[in-house]
Amino acid sequence: MSKKVLVIYYTQSGQLENILQEFCKPLSDAGHQLEWLRVYPQTPYPFPWKGNSFFTVMPNCVHGVPTPLQPFELKSASYDLVVFGYQAWFLSPSIPSNSILQDPEIKKILKNTPVITLTGARNMWISAMERIKTSLKNQDAKLVGNIALVDRHANLISFITIFYWMLTAKKDKFLNIFPPPGVSQQDVLNAARFGTIVGPYLKMGNFEGMQDELLKSGAVEIKYNLMFIESKARRIFAVWAAFISKRKNKNFWLQVYKYYLLIALFIAAPIILSVDAVLFKPFLTKRIAEQKRYYSGVN
Ligand SMILES: Cc1cc2nc3c(=O)[nH]c(=O)nc-3n(C[C@H](O)[C@H](O)[C@H](O)COP(=O)(O)O)c2cc1C
Repeated sequence: MSKKVLVIYYTQSGQLENILQEFCKPLSDAGHQLEWLRVYPQTPYPFPWKGNSFFTVMPNCVHGVPTPLQPFELKSASYDLVVFGYQAWFLSPSIPSNSILQDPEIKKILKNTPVITLTGARNMWISAMERIKTSLKNQDAKLVGNIALVDRHANLISFITIFYWMLTAKKDKFLNIFPPPGVSQQDVLNAARFGTIVGPYLKMGNFEGMQDELLKSGAVEIKYNLMFIESKARRIFAVWAAFISKRKNKNFWLQVYKYYLLIALFIAAPIILSVDAVLFKPFLTKRIAEQKRYYSGVN
């Protein structure tokens, strides 16, 4: 029997939309009814971002402050599955993604509804997803699947190329030297294999065991170093966000934060990771495996 699926998301470059389209192809091919809802904030976020505007959203991202969305209409009062596409901004759900979850109409839809989350991130989406998990739990939604596509290049490389992409809106090779930013075209196209896995579960209306199958197919890959950096950075971002929110001269402090970020990532993080690799990581194998299992899962 054909099922009703709501695909809801925000995207700036269209990357997330492309991933969702590939992911959903097997579902529409199987005859399920897909309703697409791309949301737009009433005050758009710039794309390409202009210099400092990129950093000005940090405190509100971290504090989960929503922004009003343009009005939208849903065709149904309930769905068999919601596919929620989100992106991380400053290790938090992006402001538009967070606004989707806080929208009263969406909250009604989410109640008792199976949800699959899907992101197209640089490489640090775990903290954002943890907040989304909490939000979904609070709304009695049933998280049944989680898929995270990332830029697979080295952390420092993708940090440079994402700025090039975000500040120019060009998803091509910076200086003709760096690799293209974001999720690779190959990975975007491969998202269809996850949709193929979801299909039979959707048809049955029972998603038990689906995430395990998605994981076997590479829906989530957690790298220790990134998980480690993110866990430290999440706490530090919270301190920065609280500090900057209270300052009168926010722009000055956002500049300081920007330079802090560069130093933290390019100088401090490699040193801390090296120390950790020698002194702590070898003795925490079991705990690390548990953390990876937890972050890959939907509980
Ligand atoms: C302001 C801002 C902050 C971002 N912060 C993160 C982040 O913390 N972690 C991450 O993996 N990606 C981060 N990204 C990249 C986005 O998650 C996403 O991959 C990119 O913006 C493309 O998404 P789109 O489909 O909206 O164009 C950030 C992007 C922006 C614009």
